[in-house]
Amino acid sequence: MMNQIKESLFQPGQPVSPDRFKGREDIINEIVKYFPSINSGNPQHFFITGKRGIGKTSLAKFISDVANKNYSMITAHIMNDGVHNINELVIQIIERILNSIKSEKWSEKIFDLLRGNIESVGFGGLNVKFKPSNDELENIKDNFAFYLCDLVNHFKDKDGLFIIIDDINGLSDTPEFANWYKSFADTMATSIDNAPIGMMLTCYPEKFAKLYEHNQSITRIFHTHELLGLSDNEIKIFYTDIFSMNNIAIEKSALANMTKYSLGMPTMMQEIGDATFWNDTDNYIDYNDSLIGVIEAGKRIGLKYLQPLIDKKIRSENYLSLFKKIGKELAATPNATFTKKTFSDVLNESESKVFNDFIGRAKKLGIIELASSKKQGEYQFTNQLYPIYFLIQTIREDNL
Ligand SMILES: Nc1ncnc2c1ncn2[C@@H]1O[C@H](COP(=O)(O)OP(=O)(O)O)[C@@H](O)[C@H]1O
Ligand SMILES: [Mg+2]
Repeated sequence: MMNQIKESLFQPGQPVSPDRFKGREDIINEIVKYFPSINSGNPQHFFITGKRGIGKTSLAKFISDVANKNYSMITAHIMNDGVHNINELVIQIIERILNSIKSEKWSEKIFDLLRGNIESVGFGGLNVKFKPSNDELENIKDNFAFYLCDLVNHFKDKDGLFIIIDDINGLSDTPEFANWYKSFADTMATSIDNAPIGMMLTCYPEKFAKLYEHNQSITRIFHTHELLGLSDNEIKIFYTDIFSMNNIAIEKSALANMTKYSLGMPTMMQEIGDATFWNDTDNYIDYNDSLIGVIEAGKRIGLKYLQPLIDKKIRSENYLSLFKKIGKELAATPNATFTKKTFSDVLNESESKVFNDFIGRAKKLGIIELASSKKQGEYQFTNQLYPIYFLIQTIREDNL
């Protein structure tokens, strides 16, 4: 037999490839139904909100793949992580577009027009850098709608442009971005005849609320969708499809178990699938394989997301037992808040005694935070993976 090299098709820690993306059909249809309108020159703006790890980047990638393949659009995906000002953002957007079009024959003309403002770097000039002078940059920023449309009108044999600005979290602190975007959108809508441009922005729900505080017309500009967890059914389809791409069959109880501990979180789903995949030796996932996979995935989540925050004190037995009890109660309900009272039935005396100290500590370490209601004594986990981690710690003890 040929020596087979195993390769996992799961993607923990990476946005999912469009061909392995599952679920979210309603939202996808809601968005894609506007694409013919973009093609005929009417700009559209989409906003995807959701917590960390819920699948914003993955959805944006999937949609941009549709825009490219089915609606003949040039696409540009800006990872905006660290960007805190509009000048930098404008440069990044143009740079991404230039890199997306550089292999098209017709782009030569555009590059000729921009000569002087661009630089090719890397081996064979692989990466295009956009370097306008300060005056030029101010000018582009103030007239961004015209600038972009001018660019798009030089696209030959393409029917539009789809831009993703991913993670605008850092731009929501001041009114500057909200106001700039509003005026950009207004100009495109009212002063430009043909603007075949789709824009998609993403951020956390609380940051979107902040943008709205800065400029209330923001909500009118966008088709907005909040991403919640995947359904159990979507998760089952994901596991069934990905494992079968690897020619691996799954026992029904194993599928149910992996789905149960994914708890709707795509990140968890990917970690469990990947861990289970690597533990399998006979191309058949039985219940026990899935259990080992879940526990291994729990370990990985702990190492990647929680360990960096945790100190010795919080690892002490008393605190750990508190975390497990809280985790067990809250893992299945994202956005759940709690007070001391929530757990009055499950806490023993010594746990009850240290509860307030424990909360103080966990808050300081960034594991929990005051609930968004801002009510005294009401808390929530800062990341839904944390209660899931503690829940898995409890099954680990029950089963090993
Ligand atoms: N619809 C989906 N189908 C399969 N995997 C997904 C899906 N959405 C997200 N994921 C996976 O979940 C994890 C987090 O997704 P990501 O898009 O990075 O979330 P966000 O941008 O909201 O932080 C990644 O490992 C990704 O592969
Ligand atoms: Mg993301």
